[in-house]
Parts: sequence; C-alpha cells; structure tokens
Amino acid sequence: MIRTVFLLLFAIFFGVVAEAQWKPNYDESKVPEFKLPDPLKTFSGKKVRSVKQWEKKRRPEILDYYQQNIYGEVPGKLAISSVDVLEESSNAYGGKAIRKQVELSFEKNKQSLHFTILIYLPKTDKKVPVFLGYNFYGNHTITDDVNVLISTAWVDNNPSFGIVNHQLTEQSRGVRTNRWAIEKMLDAGFGFATIYYGEVDPDTNDLTDGVQRLFYVDDQQQPADNEWGSIAAWAWGLSRAMDYFEQDEDIDASKVIVFGHSRLGKTSLWAGANDQRFAGVISNNSGCGGAALFKRQFGETIWRINRSFPHWFCDNFKNFNNDEKKLVVDQHELIALVAPRPVYVASAEEDQWADPKGEFMGAYYAGPVYELYGKKGIQNDTQPPVNKPIINTVAYHIRSGVHDVTDFDWEQYINWAQKFIQ
Ligand code: GCU
Repeated sequence: MIRTVFLLLFAIFFGVVAEAQWKPNYDESKVPEFKLPDPLKTFSGKKVRSVKQWEKKRRPEILDYYQQNIYGEVPGKLAISSVDVLEESSNAYGGKAIRKQVELSFEKNKQSLHFTILIYLPKTDKKVPVFLGYNFYGNHTITDDVNVLISTAWVDNNPSFGIVNHQLTEQSRGVRTNRWAIEKMLDAGFGFATIYYGEVDPDTNDLTDGVQRLFYVDDQQQPADNEWGSIAAWAWGLSRAMDYFEQDEDIDASKVIVFGHSRLGKTSLWAGANDQRFAGVISNNSGCGGAALFKRQFGETIWRINRSFPHWFCDNFKNFNNDEKKLVVDQHELIALVAPRPVYVASAEEDQWADPKGEFMGAYYAGPVYELYGKKGIQNDTQPPVNKPIINTVAYHIRSGVHDVTDFDWEQYINWAQKFIQ
C-alpha cells in the first residue's frame, strides 16, 4: 500500500515536472525525421493505380482507421425528428437577403437535442450555393442583425465579449462580425449558414452534455474508446444541417461548402471526409488534428492536444501520445479523403502553434489522390510567399498576421468557390 502510494506520488511528480518543462518545438532543424505514409499504397502494401481501387479499398480503409483511432465513430443513426422555422424575413441586410432561423430537433432514448441554423440567402429565384460554418460564441455574435436569436446553450466565458456566467446576452451581439464576410458572400451569389457549435456539444471535457448522451444506455457516462469525441460530434451536426438543406427549396444542396476555423477547421475537414455530400471544404488555421502533419511535431503535438482537450478526439487517440511514429496515416490522407472535391487549406504566418508549414504539407501531399481523378493539387512543394494564394482544386494560402479569419481569407475562399463550385 505504502509502496503504491509512493509510486503514484512519484509518477504524478514527474508528470507535473515533465509537463511544466514541455515546450513546443518551433525550430525546423529539430523536426524529427519521418516517413509519410503513401496515400496510394494500401496498409498491406499494394499500389493503388485507379480511382476504382482508391474508392473501393484505400479510401474506406483510411476512413475506418481515422474513425477507430482518431476522431471516433458515430455509434448509430440519428435523424432529424422535427424542423421548426423559428423566424423568417425577406428583408435582411437592407433587403438584399432573406433570413431564416431554423431549429432542428433530435430525440432518442428519452433525451433530446436542439440546434438552430441561422441562414442568409441572396434574393434570387434560383437555388443558391451556401457556405456552412460553425461559430464559437453564438449566432448573434457574427452579425449586427438585431433579429438574430440568442442561444441559451452553455458558452465559454469571454469577459472581453461581455460573456459571463456561461450565458449569452445582448451584450455580445455582433462581437465576431469581423470573422464573417457575409455581405461579400451574398454579393457573390452565395448563401451563408451558421450554427453555434456549443448547441451540438458544449466544448467541455464532459461528454454527457452534448449529442453523445442520446446514444447512452443505462448509466453510461461517456462513449466507448473508439467512439466520437467532440470533433466528430460537431461534424455530425454539420451533416444534419446538410440533411435539412436537402429539404430547403432555396438552397442548392449539391453546392454546400463546409468551412471552419481552428478547432472548427479540424471539424470541417472531418465532416467533409465523412460526408461526401459536401461539395467543398475550407479548413482555416486548423493546425494539429486539422491540416497539419502530426509527424512533424511542430507546435502543438498529439500529447499536448489530448492533454488540453481530452474530449476532442476518441479515447483511442491517446495511444498515440508522444508516439507519432505509430500512426499509419497522417493528415495529408485526411485531406485526400475529400478528393475529388475542392479543398482549401489556409495558414497564418504568426500562427506557429498550428504549424503553417505542416498545414501546407498536408495539402501538398494530398495531391496524388486528386491527380488520380485528373484534378490539380498544389504543384510546387515549397510554401508560397505570404498572401499569394494557390487556387487549384486543392488550394492553399498563408496570410500575414495571427490565428484568425479575415476578409482576405474570405476573398480567396469566395474566388476559389466561384471557380470550382458555384
Ligand atoms: C487551441 C488548440 C488548437 C485549436 C485552437 C482553437 O489553441 O490548441 O488546437 O485549434 O485552440 O480552436 O482556437
């Protein structure tokens, strides 16, 4: 007994010391040597030479590996049980757009979940393509529009936005308008849809408060080791929004581009990989667990992300803490799961934590799968200069500045989407 207590204290002590001493690596010369898995070679070593072999064998085995070991699989089906249009107007943005606020509800095992999609569509008699993306602090924060409903879901406090007691109020209306170039989208003929991500699964290390609980049996408190963490839950929510778009006569559901920034950029990639109905994917500053290669261990690492956000990935992912070598995939293959659909990866120069070079490499090394389909990946293996986008089916830019979403980013996304999706 004394020995066990002693060993435990010893382990805790060294764990704490190791953690306190951990520093992210920002030195290119200290990036370990690694061999990137070949997206066009199966786990058993067979070369993939055709779209058919990719779609029948290689794509499913990569997707399955990601589901079982990284993001976790969704344990079953859960269809929308009701759609309620909470509010609608044809006079948004000075008459330029229609607005809809649509609540989707889900029920299972005597539990329910509701989330609200805020939608703006340019006025036209045609169905329109749409950018769909989660927001971090509630739908009312991304626009000055006074008619946007305020979510009652749990939210992370942010006193600079006037968010205290984990509750949203009028005070935070419009605080995040800078991240969403809504009028630019509308003027270019795109609709825009957003959801507060905390309505699908609050971003806490507690998997009893989000959608996962609808699947629990008896007194289950968390998913199985190979089942969904929060990123997969958020991705699930995007697919349910897509289910709704398929019923909305004003939306062209074959042209929905899923967008996300940071943790939500990890989510947009995972959503696009799983759900091939998404016509395109944008992953903005998504870093570790997003577009950046794990094996570079530059900036945030697997151990670190699992330590800070134990609920984002499935529990099996913890087996790779400090053991990136063991992974038989890397994020270029996650991006390749989007092929042949257009994908845009973007970095920010000062966002070293997210490893801009690793994000670029993720996009670059997805190329061979796009080329199998006759689509253009990124042609040059060196990162382009700052603010000089590469606009191909696989697109990439690194912008000056910090971890954020700016008008510059949106101008590129809109331009790329006009070329490849609209
Ligand atoms: C943290 C986290 C990142 C994540 C980011 C965000 O910095 O370490 O992985 O992308 O938060 O979502 O803002």
